[in-house]
Amino acid sequence: MDKIVTPNKNGLKGEIVIPSDKSISHRAAIFSSLAKGTSLIKNFSRGKDPHSSLQVVQALGADIEFLDDTTVRLTSCAKLQGSSTSLDCGNSGTTMRLMAGILAAQNFNSVLIGDESLSKRPMKRIITPLELMGAKIYSEDFHAPLKIHGQNLHAIDYKSPLASAQVKSCILLAGLFTDGKTSVTEPFVSRDHTERMLKFMGADISVDNTTVTIKKSLLQPQNIEICGDISSAAYFIAAGLIVPDSKIILKNVGLNSTRAGILEVIEKMGANVKILDKRIISGEDVGDIEVQTSELHGCEISGDIIPRLIDELPVIAVMATQAEGDTVVKDAKDLRNKESDRITTIVKELQKLGADIEEFDDGFVVHGKTQLYGGCEVNTYNDHRLAMSMFVAGLISKKDISIKDFNWVNISFPEFEQYFSNLEV
Ligand code: S3P
Repeated sequence: MDKIVTPNKNGLKGEIVIPSDKSISHRAAIFSSLAKGTSLIKNFSRGKDPHSSLQVVQALGADIEFLDDTTVRLTSCAKLQGSSTSLDCGNSGTTMRLMAGILAAQNFNSVLIGDESLSKRPMKRIITPLELMGAKIYSEDFHAPLKIHGQNLHAIDYKSPLASAQVKSCILLAGLFTDGKTSVTEPFVSRDHTERMLKFMGADISVDNTTVTIKKSLLQPQNIEICGDISSAAYFIAAGLIVPDSKIILKNVGLNSTRAGILEVIEKMGANVKILDKRIISGEDVGDIEVQTSELHGCEISGDIIPRLIDELPVIAVMATQAEGDTVVKDAKDLRNKESDRITTIVKELQKLGADIEEFDDGFVVHGKTQLYGGCEVNTYNDHRLAMSMFVAGLISKKDISIKDFNWVNISFPEFEQYFSNLEV
């Protein structure tokens, strides 16, 4: 489905409740399947990716019932059962990498498969540490399908070369099944939803700076309420700041500091933003965000903040086209390993719209401020975050733009367009 976006003339105004966090939804589904008894998950994501996690744990024996379209009752006997068919992770790297850690430690074999994009994404980053734990994983050139021969694993002390929550979580989940202490040390802290939720469910897990340590633990089923996704809120934050005459309130947004790097960046860029009603829900920091149209200026984004805003970089690039001066993104090479090579794809598509943006090996620079022209077709490269970033760019372009294969937004945010129309005046 192609989508025509027309420039916004009157500003965005009003209030929306940001839908469920994708990362936390994955973890709620996967970890609950390891807890004996019944877990109740409220505000589960409608996105396709977290539903891939649900389907995989269902194929491994978890009983899943939807009480309404976002409330899941998941019952498990805690011991997963092997599946005679391949486990389909769809487009979801989180499903594949987290499940690989669990499945490597079971007493049965499994095959994890994914769609075309996921089958091209690097799995060496998890296969190497899992093999150090004694795992047997067969793949072609470290890509899915992953054929996992379940084994008894042993604990390790792993120094990860990457700040990646998927890698960290994979090893910690494998560690949950080993005798001894498994530790993961990252170069910088990546999102810590795994640590928080495993602790919430009773795991023996501790954090010391950039090192997380876990011991064999029995997880307890819980009632988990999932907050709104800051990565989904990011499109509204960016649009609220750059579409003239806008003022919007985004409610129920996860503000976990290991995820909320975009808030630090917009503050540096001079944004008019307020955080209201801070609270804690199911072990996660949550609040409401008020943004209004602001005069932005460029800044440098590099180093330890990168893992805290990695998924927001494409829409930050769009925002930077409307900031005075240069916005430089460095140390973000792993952006090339996402659903698309997000350095190349965002640079190419923004250039089509008239942005002054240059590609680096590990990032990009946007020279602002520029009027985007539009009047052309842009690609999504089957990448949900590209699709949504292009939509925001369309709102501030001079002429309509047409976004190819816009339906990829369904991976994380099926409600996206509806939410934007609710803010139009
Ligand atoms: C995620 C971690 C990040 C992020 C992805 C979701 C997670 O990936 O880009 O969208 O849920 O753990 P990496 O851990 O590979 O950086």
